[in-house]
Amino acid sequence: MTYQQHIPLRPFNTFGIEAEARHYCEIHSVSDLQAIARQQGDEPMHILGGGSNVLLTGPVQGRVLHIRIPGRNVEAVSGNTALVAAGAGENWHDFVQWCLAQSLGGLENLSLIPGSVGASPIQNIGAYGVELKDVFHSLEAVRLSDGELVTMDAADCAFGYRDSFFKREGKGRYAIVKVYFQLTTSKHRLRLDYGAIRDTLKEMNVAHPDIHDISRAIIQIRQSKLPDPALIGNAGSFFKNPETEADTWQRLSELHPGMPHFPLPDGRVKIPAGWLIEQCGWKGFREGDAGCYDKQALVLVNYGQATGQEILSLARRIAASVQERFGMVIEPEVNVW
Ligand code: FAD
Ligand code: EPU
Repeated sequence: MTYQQHIPLRPFNTFGIEAEARHYCEIHSVSDLQAIARQQGDEPMHILGGGSNVLLTGPVQGRVLHIRIPGRNVEAVSGNTALVAAGAGENWHDFVQWCLAQSLGGLENLSLIPGSVGASPIQNIGAYGVELKDVFHSLEAVRLSDGELVTMDAADCAFGYRDSFFKREGKGRYAIVKVYFQLTTSKHRLRLDYGAIRDTLKEMNVAHPDIHDISRAIIQIRQSKLPDPALIGNAGSFFKNPETEADTWQRLSELHPGMPHFPLPDGRVKIPAGWLIEQCGWKGFREGDAGCYDKQALVLVNYGQATGQEILSLARRIAASVQERFGMVIEPEVNVW
């Protein structure tokens, strides 16, 4: 396990931004990672998975550890529940399809999310009515300060909407090496209520959907509105959807009729940032190669040669205009390096 110097990261980030890693190392095993952490615990380390939620704004100083730890396994079955483990370096969507091929349920609504298994707990990935926390059992991570292997359960991870311990107190302190999931082997709980799932299944002529149909429907919906990073650089939603008190939404909706909203279990309200951004006139905007996607305003795109600084500057202008018009702060979901 040796470091390579001055490695171009363009192939390793879905925004397709050109930036180099001063020191880069691929990690294929837990023991290699532990050895690195023991040697260099006090040096800044950047953990890279599939690069689908990072924006590179310049050369990456410190060390880039590219997690490629493989492995997936059904560890135990009890009743209709299976405990399934996957190495952090596994591709997320391949893992979801591997589970589906064995008729394991729980991950189907999370089909086609780019990236790695190891990054899935970082922002508690979510889509179409399911979040990672709903199927999460535990994880193993290497503590970067001393190379110790630690186990964490859901309470340790403190999952929230696009949020976890790893984006707060644990930021930059751990590399996740394995994630354990609790899936169903039968009597799957089908989640059909979110957005266009039912309509899409109807269009597919599926009257009695199973987990495989749901996965296919989700893939179809996602392909219709999100840009394929292989064709247009992007990192999915650039911002999180803001959450606000119900009375704030009430007041805003009187000023801005038609403002969509989604009630949250705690009485608060989530407002789609895509709508706020579209109302500010950014949808389809392009300056040079940096732009706001014309089918989904929440997605910022690199049409080819945009720099990370150009994307970041566009993001700041968008956030400022949303704040000016609606008085709402929208925070980036993407990790800016
Ligand atoms: P990276 O981009 O490599 O890293 C993201 C962050 O996690 C960084 O801070 C990094 O340091 C950290 N990290 C990565 N791996 C590890 C590890 N093993 N241990 C510790 N820290 C680590 N997200 C959703 O939640 N829902 C969606 O529907 C969704 N749709 C998307 C659609 C598109 C087209 C794209 C491009 C992105 C989308 N995303 C979505 C965002 C992205 O796919 C997820 O955030 C994904 O989990 C990122 O995985 P990654 O391996 O690419 O992480
Ligand atoms: N909308 C607009 N204009 C737009 C885009 C959206 O008005 O250009 C409004 C519409 O009212 C629409 C609503 O926003 O009904 C919601 O849009 P959509 O269903 O596309 O979902 P989203 O809130 O924009 C979130 C996640 C996605 C996830 C989808 C499906 C966040 C930040 N984003 O997007 O996750 O795939 O829901 O569950 O929560 C990601 O995190 O990278 C990501 C893509």
